[in-house]
Formats: sequence, structure tokens, C-alpha cells
Amino acid sequence: MIRPVPETHVVIRSMTHDDLQHVSDIERRSYDFPWSHGVFRDCLLAGYQCVVLERDGEVAGYSILSVAAGEAHILNLCIEPSYRSHGYGEKLLDEILFRARTAAVREVFLEVRPTNIHALALYKKKGFHQVANRPAYYQARDGREDAAVLAKKLTTDC
Ligand SMILES: CC(C)(COP(=O)(O)OP(=O)(O)OC[C@H]1O[C@@H](n2cnc3c(N)ncnc32)[C@H](O)[C@@H]1OP(=O)(O)O)[C@@H](O)C(=O)NCCC(=O)NCCS
Repeated sequence: MIRPVPETHVVIRSMTHDDLQHVSDIERRSYDFPWSHGVFRDCLLAGYQCVVLERDGEVAGYSILSVAAGEAHILNLCIEPSYRSHGYGEKLLDEILFRARTAAVREVFLEVRPTNIHALALYKKKGFHQVANRPAYYQARDGREDAAVLAKKLTTDC
């Protein structure tokens, strides 16, 4: 008998306070210097665009976008390690770019470690390019690390 392969159900929705524990757990598994639970809570309280990607009802990724004066900053974008390379990071990025466009944002910025080659590949694929370098911006295991500042201008069609 051929058994049907169960379809994975993926939903992207706004983050709520009930998601914070799952989000913080993924954050701790993903970064050497993770944001605390309190930082995520403050992002929600500040009214930032906070979204989660749910896979079969379970939080599998999240992103945070701050918007002000026609500009937006992607403050975080992260997928649970065991679910990477399934296209979910790109889906989340598409959603926050859609939200930015809906908020009349003209340009989106973000900082990324130059050593984070997977994130850089994703951002370049989505049309971001480097506009600046912030020396010694990040804490690193052996001191400090620069940040590459990337930007993307938004138009109505991309
Ligand atoms: C960066 C991150 C969000 C990508 O999420 P993901 O779900 O694994 O990425 P996707 O499967 O959607 O891949 C989309 C694109 O990203 C790039 N990419 C992602 N993973 C890659 C890998 N292992 N090797 C090479 N390129 C990769 C590719 O360009 C890919 O497009 P392609 O499949 O057409 O080649 C994920 O690796 C992550 O959570 N990293 C830890 C947190 C982090 O560093 N966030 C960024 C902070 S600025």
C-alpha cells in the first residue's frame, strides 16, 4: 500500500507573548551571543513588526523589523537549526519585506557578520547590497567583529 506523505503546513503570523519562550530557545541554539527573552519582549512592547514562521503548529523561525520615517531595519531573522535550507528563511524575509512595503518603507537596512556566509547569500539573493562597514560592531569569541551594513531599496514590484 502506498502511504501519502504528510504535507508540511507552514504559516507566517505575527508574534505574540506566548511565542517568546520558543523564540528565545531557537535564539539560544542559533547564536553565540543570543538576545535575551527580555529583548524580544521589549520588541513586542515597542510595536516592532515581529513575526514567526510556524511549521506544523510549532514555531520554527522568527524575524523582527523596526520601521521609522520611511526606513526599516531588520533586527533579527532566524530559523531553527534543524529546519534550515528548506526555504523558510527566504519565506520569512519575503514576508517582512512585504510588511515593510505595506508600511510605505522606501529602503531596508540590516547588519550582518561578514563571516555569516549563509545569511549573506540569502540577503544577496534577495537584492541587498553592502553600503557600509561598521568596525568592531559585534562581540566575538576572540574579541570584536565588524558588521557589514546591507541595504535594499523597495519598489512596488520587488
Ligand atoms: C540565515 C538563515 C536565516 C537562512 O535561513 P534558511 O531557511 O536556512 O535559508 P533558505 O533555505 O530560505 O535559503 C535561502 C537562500 O539563502 C542562502 N542559503 C541558505 N542556507 C545556505 C547554505 N547552507 N549554503 C549556502 N547558501 C545558503 C541561499 O542563497 C539560499 O537560496 P538557494 O536555496 O536558492 O540557494 C539561517 O541560516 C539562520 O537562521 N541562521 C542563523 C541566524 C542568522 O545568522 N541570521 C541572520 C542574522 S543577520
